[in-house]
Amino acid sequence: MKRGGILREELSAATDKHPERMNLPPTPEAGWFPVDLRCIEPGQVAPCDLYRKTGQRDFVLFSQKNLAVDRQLRDRLLANGLFYLYIQDGNSQVYFDFLKNTLTDVVRDPNISSQKKAQAVHASCQEILRWAFDEPRAPFVRKAQEAILPTVSLIMTDDSATKHLIRLTAYDHSTYTHCTNVGIFGVALAKIFFGEGSMKQMETLGPGFFLHDLGKCRIPIEILNKPGALTAAERVVVNRHPDDGRVMLEESGLLTDEARIITAQHHERDDGSGYPLGITGNDIHPFARICRLADVYEALTANRPYHQRKSTFEAFKIMYQQFTSDLDRKLFEIFIQLFSA
Ligand SMILES: [Fe+2]
Repeated sequence: MKRGGILREELSAATDKHPERMNLPPTPEAGWFPVDLRCIEPGQVAPCDLYRKTGQRDFVLFSQKNLAVDRQLRDRLLANGLFYLYIQDGNSQVYFDFLKNTLTDVVRDPNISSQKKAQAVHASCQEILRWAFDEPRAPFVRKAQEAILPTVSLIMTDDSATKHLIRLTAYDHSTYTHCTNVGIFGVALAKIFFGEGSMKQMETLGPGFFLHDLGKCRIPIEILNKPGALTAAERVVVNRHPDDGRVMLEESGLLTDEARIITAQHHERDDGSGYPLGITGNDIHPFARICRLADVYEALTANRPYHQRKSTFEAFKIMYQQFTSDLDRKLFEIFIQLFSA
């Protein structure tokens, strides 16, 4: 039997496609952009007018710019499963800065518990990555990279928060959750692998993990969400995403050596069966190996249209039995440590 057999093919499909879109944010519509209410704390001052959608094209003011968001109104919406508000398109930059600054303040605040920090960082990271994927223009990608840094800093400096973040990765799996989770796993793994003195390097390495799949923005959605096997022509399109991601980061002025390696090599395999180059052994950089390991674990433990999620134990077993010659053994042993109590 071919090494890895069917499982390997399933996994290949899983890591190539967007995860199942669960708890989907609404798609942007002309003049309006959805924002996640869970990223706005009660009492926080709204950076711009926030609207609630009440009909097909009806929007009513929910909270006025520069006024505190009402706790009761916010909690009532969330209790009814209404997670998204809207801002007018022209305010997107202002809102993005608000998200980034909130994240920085939360991470720095000594009065906020590690658990609360982890929850805030996980929610905001997904929101930030959603924006970067929906609007993959240079200014947004640059802002996304800046906004990821507080998360990298939290993982590097707070072991307890890291544990909470690892636990949060077990919940729902949307596109942005996938990128957030791979980013969290990647930074946490690199922290142990390269040592805690590697903070400076992590400022360039960390965003590379979070943005590793940016090139998928250029894959048509019907290919990304196709439940069955891809045709040869579709496979060619999918296999372009590492190169496309590298080009997009270059266009955004964000192409550090670390991000280039991660985006370009995260689907390479030791036996040469990976893509886009089919490189082997030492030609595959440890940064890319870390990202691939995180990507494989995330793919196995995510709910997808075409497979049921595996438990952490099942995923480790599969990774150990099927992929030991494909995944780095030393990295794998370190990765398991991340899940110890
Ligand atoms: Fe990828």
